[in-house]
Amino acid sequence: MHLSGKRIILGVTGSIAAYKSAPLCRLLKGEGADVQVITTRSAEDFVSPLTLSVLSGKPVLSEMISEDNTWNNHIDLGMWADLFLIAPLSAHTLSAFATGTCENLLQAVYLSARCPVFVAPAMDHDMYLHPATKQNLEVIKQRGQHIIGPAHGELASGLVGEGRMEEPEVILEKVISFFSANKPLAGKSIIVTAGPTQEAIDPVRFITNHSSGKMGIAIATSLVEMGAHVKLIAGPVQEKIPAGLIHIPVISADDMLQACIQHFPTADAAIMTAAVADYRPSTFSDKKVKKSEDDLQLPLSKTVDIAATLGKMKTKNQFLVGFALETNDEMVNAEKKLNSKNLDFIVLNSLNDKGAGFGTDTNKVTLIFKGNKNIDLPLMSKSKVASNIVESLVNLMHA
Ligand SMILES: Cc1cc2nc3c(=O)[nH]c(=O)nc-3n(C[C@H](O)[C@H](O)[C@H](O)COP(=O)(O)O)c2cc1C
Repeated sequence: MHLSGKRIILGVTGSIAAYKSAPLCRLLKGEGADVQVITTRSAEDFVSPLTLSVLSGKPVLSEMISEDNTWNNHIDLGMWADLFLIAPLSAHTLSAFATGTCENLLQAVYLSARCPVFVAPAMDHDMYLHPATKQNLEVIKQRGQHIIGPAHGELASGLVGEGRMEEPEVILEKVISFFSANKPLAGKSIIVTAGPTQEAIDPVRFITNHSSGKMGIAIATSLVEMGAHVKLIAGPVQEKIPAGLIHIPVISADDMLQACIQHFPTADAAIMTAAVADYRPSTFSDKKVKKSEDDLQLPLSKTVDIAATLGKMKTKNQFLVGFALETNDEMVNAEKKLNSKNLDFIVLNSLNDKGAGFGTDTNKVTLIFKGNKNIDLPLMSKSKVASNIVESLVNLMHA
């Protein structure tokens, strides 16, 4: 979901294209936006406020003073929104925008909005080509407002020409790219592995570890905030998976390996935070292993090293970040992994540091880069650690 947490006012005016505001509202909501619809009176001849209120999950506003005598505070609405999108925009409301007329709620919000304004004009070909319309569009464009379309095609009048409102999908795309345009990882695809893996012994037992997935989820969240397209390949975790990313759940080390091999070739980077099992039971018993008088020997086989596998697959335009959790000879072991797995940097956390490691909300790490460059971070929240790791990755990717 690319619009999580974004507050959007969807203004709808009296054009035949107003019916397209319903799918547009649905698309915006589907991307996680909080949508408040404001209609003009004329718009309600073309699309039902009931439809728009059901799709947006909020009552549709239209009047400055509602029937129950409450004031729909246009100033608050103008300050609430992160973006004001008027789709469709009629020639009449366009003219009001250009001159600063304020005779309905939608026009009042236009004047008080502090956020960016996007408009999708929709009208017949000749109306669109009229010098008055062209001039009005030029006026609002000069004010920095964003004009989407109109498109060329068949019009409601039966004519063919310019004036058709852009399709809802195109409008959605423009809104999404506006929000992510200035973010440092816009357009980048990054995979993150997180959590433990479970290696089955029999249908009821497995070998696992204490990883909670918190660090990987914090990194994935930070990457999403930076505008990246994130795929989170996570073993079984209790933590809530954040919105705005693609969650690929896996169970075993082998599942995680297969998912990474599948998704890495199209990624710009991968951050490997998962605590992947190094060994799995050599055989899987499809019946529960029975308790006996004797001790049980459980032969284990080595799993494939996922980070090292991706290190071999890595092209010169890709970046790979690993994690090392060590209990002794921390620096030496971490540097070994950095080189043998062809990583761009490795994040070392030591279980000897208080507040670091599994299950905690804090971590204390050292970022180790090639060429003996290290960044020692103090004990901080996992989300702050995540921001530091992501910042280092951004610097490498933009270097
Ligand atoms: C059937 C019909 C279709 C219309 N389609 C459009 C249109 O696509 N674009 C437009 O600018 N005006 C169109 N109009 C005219 C507007 O509805 C009219 O100018 C109205 O006052 C606009 O009010 P508003 O801008 O406050 O919503 C249409 C009118 C009718 C009756």
